[in-house]
Amino acid sequence: MFKSEIYARRRKLLKKRIGRGILLFMGNEECPMNYPANTYPFRQDSSFLYYFGLNSPGLAAVVDIDENKDILFGDDIGIEDIIWMGHLPKMKDRAREVGVGRTAPRKAFEEYVTKALSAGRPVHYLPPYRAQTARVLGELLKIPHKDLKAKASGAFIKAVVDQRLVKSKEEIKEIEGALEVTRDMYLAAMKLAKPGRYEREVSGAMEGIALSRGYRLAFPPIVTVNGQTLHNHYHGNLLTKGRLLVVDVGAESEMSYACDITRTVPVGGKFNRRQKDVYDIVLSGQEAAIRAMKPGVMFKDIHLKAAGTMARGLKDLGLMKGDAAEAVAKGAHALFFPHGLGHNMGLDVHDMEDLGENHVGYNDSVKRSDQFGLAYLRMARELRPGYVMTVEPGIYFIPALVEKWRKEKKHLEFIAYDKVEKFLDFGGVRLEDDVLVTEKGRRVLGPPIPKTPADVEKACR
Ligand code: GLY
Ligand code: MN
Repeated sequence: MFKSEIYARRRKLLKKRIGRGILLFMGNEECPMNYPANTYPFRQDSSFLYYFGLNSPGLAAVVDIDENKDILFGDDIGIEDIIWMGHLPKMKDRAREVGVGRTAPRKAFEEYVTKALSAGRPVHYLPPYRAQTARVLGELLKIPHKDLKAKASGAFIKAVVDQRLVKSKEEIKEIEGALEVTRDMYLAAMKLAKPGRYEREVSGAMEGIALSRGYRLAFPPIVTVNGQTLHNHYHGNLLTKGRLLVVDVGAESEMSYACDITRTVPVGGKFNRRQKDVYDIVLSGQEAAIRAMKPGVMFKDIHLKAAGTMARGLKDLGLMKGDAAEAVAKGAHALFFPHGLGHNMGLDVHDMEDLGENHVGYNDSVKRSDQFGLAYLRMARELRPGYVMTVEPGIYFIPALVEKWRKEKKHLEFIAYDKVEKFLDFGGVRLEDDVLVTEKGRRVLGPPIPKTPADVEKACR
């Protein structure tokens, strides 16, 4: 946990920004896998963690702006739980650790909110993403389930987003701690990526390293020889020579800060000519994007910079043709790069996606595009110091998409379909790093993880 003053300061800023009413913070509950006592690993709600730091189920909190009070609701555990689960400090002592002086039993939360509602005070809540939280909020606020998201407080969402987007030194340290562990996970993966192994051996070894170091994974691992499927979570394929293994994995720190790295590794440790050609294009797209990042620049323009660099590379390789800038403006490059360049990252790997992607990545000055590819960009707005962004361009050969576009005669002036057809067995290449926007520019976070073809080949040996 951070120092208690940090949580107190965060809540104070929030009160000042919103001005009146009460703010509800719903902690997460245990979530059963197959019967109530057999639960998924517990993950606390990230906004609860940001403002109240306590990482256990059974908690809720209120920030009462009108009365300038912060209250934590939760029960001291009884002898039964002590016998089965062990000792837990008293609520009063846990609250003090996060700068909160008032506690009350969990059931008093509903009473507090009901009283505020009957007094006609504004009650602000964040959009729930778990069924159990939605049920509690729906019953308490008398809002039908289908309306709960739409009726969440816009002012509360915006204030939380603005605050959480800018990472403090302590938060960067947490992210970099996760990156240290993730580097070791990648070094192990590169050594394991040999013909005769299975994807699951690589993904299992990586997760094992995270767990053995007191970390866990920030999201389900992508470890696949079918990298052309962007979020491929199947790990049952045998690694064979000539395939590329796309590994998109990141550790999460004990305080729940994420990292998110992708490397693409040639099975057997040596890129062939064709693989290296495509890899170099993705690498130059990523490097150009990172170099261009600084405060005041729209991340949408950074995305387009990566797209333009890669389109020029694909033209040199004979897979695209015509004017590369025009091809990107018309969206032709999205045949190969059909996703966004990256997203904000922090307590969530896709930071605050629960609050709504458009609230995080878009605002009045930049609206989401409806062009295929660009429409998937999670974050388009202007960069500010303290933002942490992933930068993750890729080039993929997705047979179903190539077939569809070719049939539709889409972008015939920009795509050399005959040549593209020869790459349908290729798979994909993606490279991803986590980048902090600084006052003057940017800094790639964490220790270097092998990335140039020569460094990757060396790490495989
Ligand atoms: N690491 C997976 C993603 O960014 O969606
Ligand atoms: Mn990512």
